[in-house]
Amino acid sequence: MSFQARLQAQSFGKDFVWGVALAAQQNEGAHNIDGRGLSIWDVFARRQGKIKGGHKPSAACDFYYRYKDDLLLVKALGFKAFRFSIAWPRILPDGTGKVNKEGIAYYHRLIDECLALGIEPYVTLYHWDLPYELEKEGGWTSYRMVRWFSRFATICAEEYGSKVKHWIVLNEPMGFTSLGYMLGKHAPGRIGLDNFYPAIHNAVMCQAEGGRILRDLVPNAHIGTTFSCSEVIPFSDKEEDVQAANRMDVLLNRLFIEPALGRGYPKDDFRFLERLELHNKAWKYTDRMRFNFDFIGLQNYFPLVVRYNPFIPVVNASEVKAVTRKVPHTAMGWEINGGSFYRIIKKFWLYGGVKELYITESGAAFKDEVVNGTVNDESRIAYFQEYLQAMLKAKQEGVNIKGYFAWTLMDNFEWSEGYKARFGLVHVDFKTQLRTIKNSGYWFRDFLK
Ligand code: FCB
Repeated sequence: MSFQARLQAQSFGKDFVWGVALAAQQNEGAHNIDGRGLSIWDVFARRQGKIKGGHKPSAACDFYYRYKDDLLLVKALGFKAFRFSIAWPRILPDGTGKVNKEGIAYYHRLIDECLALGIEPYVTLYHWDLPYELEKEGGWTSYRMVRWFSRFATICAEEYGSKVKHWIVLNEPMGFTSLGYMLGKHAPGRIGLDNFYPAIHNAVMCQAEGGRILRDLVPNAHIGTTFSCSEVIPFSDKEEDVQAANRMDVLLNRLFIEPALGRGYPKDDFRFLERLELHNKAWKYTDRMRFNFDFIGLQNYFPLVVRYNPFIPVVNASEVKAVTRKVPHTAMGWEINGGSFYRIIKKFWLYGGVKELYITESGAAFKDEVVNGTVNDESRIAYFQEYLQAMLKAKQEGVNIKGYFAWTLMDNFEWSEGYKARFGLVHVDFKTQLRTIKNSGYWFRDFLK
């Protein structure tokens, strides 16, 4: 598919929401300030070899202090919506128990500043920064997560519900359960199915319970949750590759949305699912796993080409990387493919039962450099042009897609990649905290004018 036609923001309609996203743990810093408790990422980052370069999220972009200036950047770039997350350890330093008034006050200031600037806040409840005290009690593997999370969600809804109307319950449950509790690559660094099975189920339960709490407590709330998604393509048309791709598709694109839509866990010929059901006695919970979301947020970063591989546990599949296939890719090694973005949007829409779609994250990392005060990130501009054009095609074909949030406002702490992976529209010098708007930021400003 080629996306050559000149792109115009007007083509998306005048109510289309254009926003930019970030997350507390990746940006705020101030990790031990004003009563904040430790998160699993603060602790994970202390372990040797877990984060590239030994980087720590303790200072990040100093957004905790610089939020006013950074919101001016959001405004200057022309975005009308801003997605950020609330750090659970700032609100409840121990995860449960005593509420931290200074943490509560901080998000009031941040929200008020958005509203004063005419920027609509889209608030994520959970973007991966679980309070470390809860991890000590089992974290996402504990059935008590639903109770802990409900308390956190209730406090946020009661505090901010009169000001914030757009809510996102979880950020990418597949991301934090698989990387954090199955593969050990993200915090808290746990490994194996005995962790993965309960973590999946507790996340599915919290996803729905969070929705119900917001519905009860926030008048006129517009409630969503986000899913990572990737088109999965078999490496060849051999039956074993096709089956491998199907198993991967269940995990990457179906595991969390189907229970939310009221269908329970995916029904498929994949033993993993049977054991997941049994382990969690899931049949008992089909109703509680369901919530009628107003919108679904999709986050897409790459398609995945997979082939059968009997040596990989569970899925018996492995990725054939973009570099190996010699196709265009980002600094993360992620394939750039607008056509695939278009197809995955369509796939989620065709599920049925989804009322509105938002792209709650989309963006790319490249090796950016400041040269004479300028970051000439042409590849990122080309990336956004290709992806926006793909989204427009889906929209014009009838997908009810209501908004797009670029990931991300500024370079930040990219989880296990540390500070080296730069996704921002604004460059950050992490020594001086100097911000430099990249050419892609200016491109958005002109595009949104
Ligand atoms: C997503 C995460 C987000 C960011 C991007 C690059 O999976 O939600 O925080 O790290 O990837």
